[in-house]
Amino acid sequence: MTTPENPGAQSYFDKVPKEWDALYSHEHGFMYRVNKALRKGLYERYAFTFEKCGDLTGASVLDIGCGTARYSIECAKRGARRVTGIDFAPSMIEFSRNIARQMGVAGQCTFIQGDVLAHEFTETFDVVLALGLFDYIKDPAPLFNKAASLKPRVFVASFPRFTFPWSIQRRIRYYLIKKCPIYDYSKEQIEGLCKAAGFDWFEVVKNSHGYLCAAGVKK
Ligand SMILES: C[S@@+](CC[C@H](N)C(=O)[O-])C[C@H]1O[C@@H](n2cnc3c(N)ncnc32)[C@H](O)[C@@H]1O
Repeated sequence: MTTPENPGAQSYFDKVPKEWDALYSHEHGFMYRVNKALRKGLYERYAFTFEKCGDLTGASVLDIGCGTARYSIECAKRGARRVTGIDFAPSMIEFSRNIARQMGVAGQCTFIQGDVLAHEFTETFDVVLALGLFDYIKDPAPLFNKAASLKPRVFVASFPRFTFPWSIQRRIRYYLIKKCPIYDYSKEQIEGLCKAAGFDWFEVVKNSHGYLCAAGVKK
């Protein structure tokens, strides 16, 4: 197995599946309300994703950097025929398999532990998701090319943007404390990546802390 481009992100996320999942969980009432106020972008991207995905009945979905599988599971619940989640943190994959079983969608879901940049996909997908992933990708062009090569009718991704003072404190938290470098993006950069990868259409919109992108390849 090759060393991932961002080993800091791999080892950081491997330690935090429960903490990450708590951001979505209504069981932790008080913390959920705090996170909802502080991490508005997380909830905005969830709503944007399912608006752009449209009807998922019978779809094949690839969820890159699936984390605790919250998007994968929602796709399966919305009728996706086949959902593949990939993440390079082993504990995220273990968590995903368990939660998919608990939610009754394990039959539609497959979870792969691996670096998406190194993984060879042998099929195409109707929908490709990359939420909260590009923050940890130093060179995004190969991943954009890979996503476009999978011929999705919809590709949805999120990107952080530099805002003061949020980005400074985030960099300190991630880089100095968690040893996990993060990367910011501009709208022009994301549009350029979509064009260069060969997507037929794309839109990039601003949200609280970054940009949300929807793109697609016409079949
Ligand atoms: C911020 S979490 C987002 C999880 C999920 N998509 C969500 O929005 O709830 C980012 C995830 O991407 C994974 N990741 C980052 N770089 C990756 C790579 N090159 N290959 C596979 N997984 C990666 C991390 O392990 C982590 O679980």
